[in-house]
Amino acid sequence: MKLKMSDLARISFSLENELLEKLSELVEKEGYENRSEFVRDLIRARLTAGEWEEGDIVIGTLTLIYDHHKRGLTEKLLDLQHHTDVDVLASTHVHLTHHLCAEMIMLKGHGERIAALAASMKKLCGVIHAELAKTTTGKSIAP
Ligand code: NI
Repeated sequence: MKLKMSDLARISFSLENELLEKLSELVEKEGYENRSEFVRDLIRARLTAGEWEEGDIVIGTLTLIYDHHKRGLTEKLLDLQHHTDVDVLASTHVHLTHHLCAEMIMLKGHGERIAALAASMKKLCGVIHAELAKTTTGKSIAP
């Protein structure tokens, strides 16, 4: 969606000098073109965190590293995905080594259900690492 200049509001706010310096450092360190885009991203990140806290429909991407030789583990991982009210949007499996697999599972649903599903997978014996990236459907934060 293309923004018109009339869609943009110019605002000013006060910051302590030290905090302003920190802001400038972060903007530069993270390679943003300007402070505005950095602040927009901060706001969107906070709104996304709020969606997760409030149990909205969100997107989570779970990355699992596991040992596929662990007896029954692959079946347990599949069972959990079949018996949930969370939507499994996509999954990708990569064979890392003779023993280890990496799997990326993109999930859509209520935040707390996604987190619970991720936690159930994480604690299975043979899962070596699990990381849930919490993001948004974009519906409520896109311009
Ligand atoms: Ni594999």
